[in-house]
Amino acid sequence: MDLFSCIDLEPVRQRMSELADEIDRLNYEYYMNDRSLVSDFDFDAMLRELTELEHQYPELASPLSPTKRVGGEINKSFPQVQHRFPMLSLGNTYSIQEIEDFEARTRKLLDGVEFTYTCELKYDGVAIGLTYKHGRLVQAVTRGNGTVGDDITTNAKTINTIPLRLHGDYPDDFEARGEVVYPFDAFEAMNRQREAEGDEPFANPRNAASGSLKLQDSAECARRKLMFCMYFMMAPDGVALKPTHFDRLEWAKQMGFKVQPYIKECKDINDIKAFIDHWDKARWNLPFGIDGIVIKVNQTSLWDKLGLTAKSPRWAIAYKFKAERVSTLLESISYQVGRTGVITPVANLKPVWLGGTTVKRATLVNADFISKMDIRNGDHLLIEKGGEIIPKVVGVDMEQRKADALPVDYIDCCPECGAPLVRAEGEAGHYCPNSDGCHPQIIGRLEHFVSRKAMNIDTLGPERLELLYAAGLVRNVADIYSLRREQLIGLGADQAASIQQKGADNLLAAIEVSKNVPFERVLFALGIRYVGEVGAKKIARYFQNIDALMTADEAELAQVEDVGEVTAKAVCEWFADDNHRQIVERLRQAGLQMQVVREEGDNNLAGMTFVVSGVFEHFSRDEIKADIERHGGKVSGSISGKTSYVVAGEKMGPEKMKKAEKLGVPIINEADYVKLSSSIV
Ligand code: IVH
Repeated sequence: MDLFSCIDLEPVRQRMSELADEIDRLNYEYYMNDRSLVSDFDFDAMLRELTELEHQYPELASPLSPTKRVGGEINKSFPQVQHRFPMLSLGNTYSIQEIEDFEARTRKLLDGVEFTYTCELKYDGVAIGLTYKHGRLVQAVTRGNGTVGDDITTNAKTINTIPLRLHGDYPDDFEARGEVVYPFDAFEAMNRQREAEGDEPFANPRNAASGSLKLQDSAECARRKLMFCMYFMMAPDGVALKPTHFDRLEWAKQMGFKVQPYIKECKDINDIKAFIDHWDKARWNLPFGIDGIVIKVNQTSLWDKLGLTAKSPRWAIAYKFKAERVSTLLESISYQVGRTGVITPVANLKPVWLGGTTVKRATLVNADFISKMDIRNGDHLLIEKGGEIIPKVVGVDMEQRKADALPVDYIDCCPECGAPLVRAEGEAGHYCPNSDGCHPQIIGRLEHFVSRKAMNIDTLGPERLELLYAAGLVRNVADIYSLRREQLIGLGADQAASIQQKGADNLLAAIEVSKNVPFERVLFALGIRYVGEVGAKKIARYFQNIDALMTADEAELAQVEDVGEVTAKAVCEWFADDNHRQIVERLRQAGLQMQVVREEGDNNLAGMTFVVSGVFEHFSRDEIKADIERHGGKVSGSISGKTSYVVAGEKMGPEKMKKAEKLGVPIINEADYVKLSSSIV
């Protein structure tokens, strides 16, 4: 860099540093102290200014800038790295007696030395280690097998409670350990969104936290709103830390870590037991999950003296809470009908308080579950809530069983359409075979067909589908492709889901775009029983086109990897149905993809180089990039004279825009791209 540019850049550097400091400070107050010092608008304006400066002057952008919190970098893989200090686990127990034994043994081993314990929460999440050098985060690694873990630094930077730069006084080189947890409210919100988009909800916050840390798209990780709870600090020889665990965590708080305030110095077993008793009940009021209490000897100089067992230190132990269980009256059973006709019995329970919420309903899974548990009318059921958010029926409270209790009279007709139910040999549950005349099945199939992982027609939500169904315009998935503008305008005028001119145009455009969805997703969208996203992919790759699949018999289908007899039978039965064959024909006529696009040889975009930037309406950035490569084109990260097209979505950086204009590179939108990639066939 020459002298002049140094002089010119100094005010910019200063402004960027000022902005970064201020954003860091506001983030800290917001996430650590629950204090909002400026409006969202002002905060966003600062963040935007810094982001734009970083685009304009990438050489001045810091890898620890608070703009990294919103993510954007794509993790191609998570390199495995060796832990500098092995990540030990803790001995754990469900028994208070064993906690008493631990305390007595520790006291005996320390033979008259004065010491205390710390009791703290055992966070129910994913353990990670963060390495800080000179006050800066340099690496974040998951526990893995304790010796080697995954480097998830890019995703960790998006977690607001992980400081990127430390405050005040800190050790020059150390590792901060803690747990990444998914707070309940953020978890619930994410699961609602997943359901709306047709994705399976996560079973519990722990699995979801673990899955989130391994997301390839760090921007998606940022949206997950994870939280880091720090609980441990360690350093190489020669780096001094404080002499007690309690003081180390206090110190960490001052450096900028989120250290939960629920830590107590305890002098004896009575203090420890009181702490356990308190949190066994109070845990349900916390905004995140815990699964026990961790008890540690507080004076770190005693840790060496107590030593280690094979995998865990002798100076600490975890007490794990038992899953909370209650007994409540089974008032009645309702039966739900899913999109494939599967019947799910649901227990309507006398409302009961369990683990922080009132439970009124719980699934009874299927007819087999009811008979195996021998659930009878008027029984009291045992309901449990462990790490899972969803309460589970774990048995019958036999002490309350009435002598004359009669077995459950399972329904034999569909509660929605009255059709006699079918239970195939060897299957645990029943289903309603009236797939074309049973309302929840029809609507459920339509919802599945338009969902994100299927045809991704996101302008067709459940209310709109009901509207189209009620107007007699859509009875099956093929009808979607026969919709005409004049039929749509003015529909449901008195309802929130009403369709006006612009809505109709958007809807028809989204339907048009869906015709490019690859065959494997079309197959998944058809909603054949047992054919999930992965199964559809494997079947599509094996048969290559719908005609080969439609004429295959069960034996041939069972040749496909992971396709068992039950799925093979379901696929054959589906295609044997005349109505289904007609639907497939109409979809084919409408122009949907009915064959695998050959990965080699389809060179529509050969010789062209694309830069993809911004956020798109119908596809993710990755989907567009993969599509370019599938069509033989090249994807590049930066615009140059060799770039053929820039595919621009919303929020494309102004610098890229300027550069493309300057070099005369055509800028096209998502719809132009779809036309380009498919029209040069
Ligand atoms: S201390 C050497 N403290 O529980 C001691 N662990 O097996 C290091 N955990 O996977 C662990 N909350 O991730 C400690 N307050 C806490 C904790 C905690 C949760 C996890 C930890 C580890 C497991 C113990």
